Amino acid sequence: MLDRAVFAARRKAYMEALGPDAVAVVYSLPERLRNGDSHYHFRQHSDVLYLTGFAEPATTVILRPGAESEKVVMFVRPRDPEMETWDGRRAGIDGAKEIYGADAAYPAAELDQRLIELIANCEELHYALGLDDEMDLRVAGALARLRKMEKRGKRPPRAVVDPRAALHEQRLHKSPEELAILRKAATISSEAHVAAMRAGRPGSFEYEIEATINYTFRRHGGAGPGYGTIVGAGENATILHYVENRCAVADGDLVLVDAGCEYDHYTADITRTWPASGTFSGAQRAVYDLVLDVQKSAVAAAKPGATLDDLHQLCVRKLTQGMIDLGLLEGTVDARVEDLAYKKYYMHGTSHWLGMDVHDVGAYTRGGKPRPLEPGMVITVEPGLYIAADATGVPDRLRGIGVRIEDDVLITADGCENLTAACPKEVADVEAICRA
Ligand code: GLY
Ligand code: MN
Ligand code: MN
Repeated sequence: MLDRAVFAARRKAYMEALGPDAVAVVYSLPERLRNGDSHYHFRQHSDVLYLTGFAEPATTVILRPGAESEKVVMFVRPRDPEMETWDGRRAGIDGAKEIYGADAAYPAAELDQRLIELIANCEELHYALGLDDEMDLRVAGALARLRKMEKRGKRPPRAVVDPRAALHEQRLHKSPEELAILRKAATISSEAHVAAMRAGRPGSFEYEIEATINYTFRRHGGAGPGYGTIVGAGENATILHYVENRCAVADGDLVLVDAGCEYDHYTADITRTWPASGTFSGAQRAVYDLVLDVQKSAVAAAKPGATLDDLHQLCVRKLTQGMIDLGLLEGTVDARVEDLAYKKYYMHGTSHWLGMDVHDVGAYTRGGKPRPLEPGMVITVEPGLYIAADATGVPDRLRGIGVRIEDDVLITADGCENLTAACPKEVADVEAICRA
């Protein structure tokens, strides 16, 4: 875990951005039942993790930059020897203060009664409305009660502000400590992809390849996959979010693996596509070469001042030219971009922010326009081409081929750094590893 001083510095920076008249509330999403008495594995909301590192459920963190004392207030599960015997250790009220930097901490059950005082009379309440119905009701209840207290000197905040205004801007710009963790996640993930290329053979099952990937993540101390690992062989590679991973790999299949390790609450996001037999067929090679060339061009174009929309348009135009050359589309690039015909084979965006969340937080636009990239932002670059097995008007040799190549890219002062460059993607390298 990061040093406590890092979290303190983050809270300080956030509170400066909020100013003395604002209050911020971040909180855990509820634990979810999977079946019977068994819950889905709990993962703390990234806003709570970012500000405190506190990973336990039922947590609320309230930041009050203008308060005299008790600027950082936490509501947590209290210590409870019996419950801890069943469900694990708790930091409790004292732990929240002594370890996690709270000026004051209270039992989670006291949130409703204390919330009114904590948010009364502020100008802006920074709160993610619409994320969790139960919390929305609690906050709305506090606002309703405050509305009736004006004669007693208490009024509700004048505005509820989305956290993207300040907290998510801060999370979007990665600090050196965050980049160190992302590099570690990238290194582990690269190793996992290479292990998958080595282990995957005609006759392997997609779930075996998934197991190799996820084992590699855990073996290096990662929490596991930062999102559902995708292993799609053959035409399964043309399904963008294929997570069933239950088919056998046939001889001659390409295997698309989209997998990233979450390490210390930050995730990588890498896709590689490789021939199970160790050799691309002619048609597979033609599609792969196109996607690889497009992907490298887009990485090269990632720099301060460029926008994610610039990268996407670059990919769309080059991929559309490739689709025409391959016989998937007819006419001119301009015409096929204009009528969106390319979307039949390239239907997703090229990039997203990356960090604690795989689709990380941060506004994508400024004043209605795509925002320029800045040093410290981390993005994915992930063009692909997907030709469904039953697509109409498609040369037979291209049917059922899906290729995506995805790297994680840090924007630097004068360009970018590919954080996942260690994960092989050149044809000769990929084929050699698959054959080994
Ligand atoms: N793994 C999800 C994505 O690439 O966006
Ligand atoms: Mn991605
Ligand atoms: Mn991905």
